[in-house]
Amino acid sequence: MDSILVTGNGALNGQIPIAGAKNACLTLMPATLLSDEPLTLTNAPRLSDIKTMTLLLQSLGAEVSSLQDGKVLAMSSHDLTSHKAEYDIVRKMRASILVLGPLLARYGEAIVSLPGGCAIGARPVDLHLKALEAMGAELDLREGYVFAKAPGGLKGGTYEFPIVSVGATENALMAATLAKGTTVLKNAAREPEIVDLAQCLRKMGAQIEGEGTSTLTIQGVERLHGATHPVVTDRIELGTYMLAPAIAGGEVELLGGRIDLVGAFCEKLDAAGVSVTETPTGLVVARKNGRIRAVDVMTEPFPGFPTDLQAQMMALLCTAEGTSVLEEKIFENRFMHAPELMRMGAKIDVHGGTAKVTGVERLKGAPVMATDLRASVSLILAGLAAEGETQVNRVYHLDRGYERVEEKLSAVGAKIERIKGS
Ligand code: EPZ
Repeated sequence: MDSILVTGNGALNGQIPIAGAKNACLTLMPATLLSDEPLTLTNAPRLSDIKTMTLLLQSLGAEVSSLQDGKVLAMSSHDLTSHKAEYDIVRKMRASILVLGPLLARYGEAIVSLPGGCAIGARPVDLHLKALEAMGAELDLREGYVFAKAPGGLKGGTYEFPIVSVGATENALMAATLAKGTTVLKNAAREPEIVDLAQCLRKMGAQIEGEGTSTLTIQGVERLHGATHPVVTDRIELGTYMLAPAIAGGEVELLGGRIDLVGAFCEKLDAAGVSVTETPTGLVVARKNGRIRAVDVMTEPFPGFPTDLQAQMMALLCTAEGTSVLEEKIFENRFMHAPELMRMGAKIDVHGGTAKVTGVERLKGAPVMATDLRASVSLILAGLAAEGETQVNRVYHLDRGYERVEEKLSAVGAKIERIKGS
């Protein structure tokens, strides 16, 4: 397995291009199953998760061509050969469950493996299933699979999510576009990835209102046609790289960055002593002056502070002046980066969903272990300003969500290299 070696190397300066959003692309790709006409995505990120979704769609008989070095995905599901998403692909990536709604809506049947949990939590899919049942789906769970049927097609229904769920909102939204009648989804997720999906579906002929708010209203249509759609900028990659100059010093422009994608995150950066300036080409980030100040963080559904930036923010706060309290409200086990940061000298007390971080002057490089996607990159961020070398092992987690991380950080002066594993 590969590892990444990063050495504290002083301030960073230059530009980092931000790619298309992994979590938007992973829901836009299954949308191709809703139409027998081609759907083409541009600004697609080059990530292993995208390759996994490609294999899944191809296993159903969809055509997926990766063009222009992976930045364009030309897809067509004109002649599907299967409606079954097999366990051996689904277990690699939970987002595979997002083929359930589209298959059910278009074909009236789907067999999808239950994704199982992952490092950060149990991550059930009960809300995906309840929302589809509200549209008339008949579901049978056995042998680790969901056997879904909608004889005569899905019917418009109303469903209020008991908690905000990004994936369940996406599955229900896609399914509702072809349901007979009107569907109302209440307490729906408001993430930019949902807005991006709604905009793409509308280009395909869907009738959707309310994206970005907590209530989505969808008027089902007979069929959807093809479209071409650019994947929205990745707000989590953006936030991640905004923290690089905040941690290491210097000034970096994040090309393609948009302030509306990271509002709550920027408020916390401002309070911590990091300046964010909008430019015609993106966002420029620099530490204001002196040491980073401690701030308290609580993760919430959008537009609150994103759970996917919690680990990275913790890396910044490890060397802040004062004590910060981070509350992880979305997932039950998302502090696995804490023990690894403590190997680097961080002072962190974790109790349940709360982590108290007491800032130290400087971290010391050490060999550390990546446990999940966002934890991996928080260790790299910490290594940028640590004294000496930090070796982050098991970086296959990293490649799921960050394209060419060592290239992007080297380009602004970081001392970072990938060590090919056995
Ligand atoms: C999406 O996961 C993202 N993944 C996650 O990003 C992100 O952390 C999460 O949304 C929250 O923003 C993709 O978009 C591919 P949820 P998702 O359903 O949809 C519980 C990353 O690092 N829940 O909003 O799976 C769930 O356990 C990944 O890129 C149920 O109880 O998240 C969690 O506690 C990590 N039942 C909470 O809701 C359900 O049926 C929010 O989960 C579904 C979810």
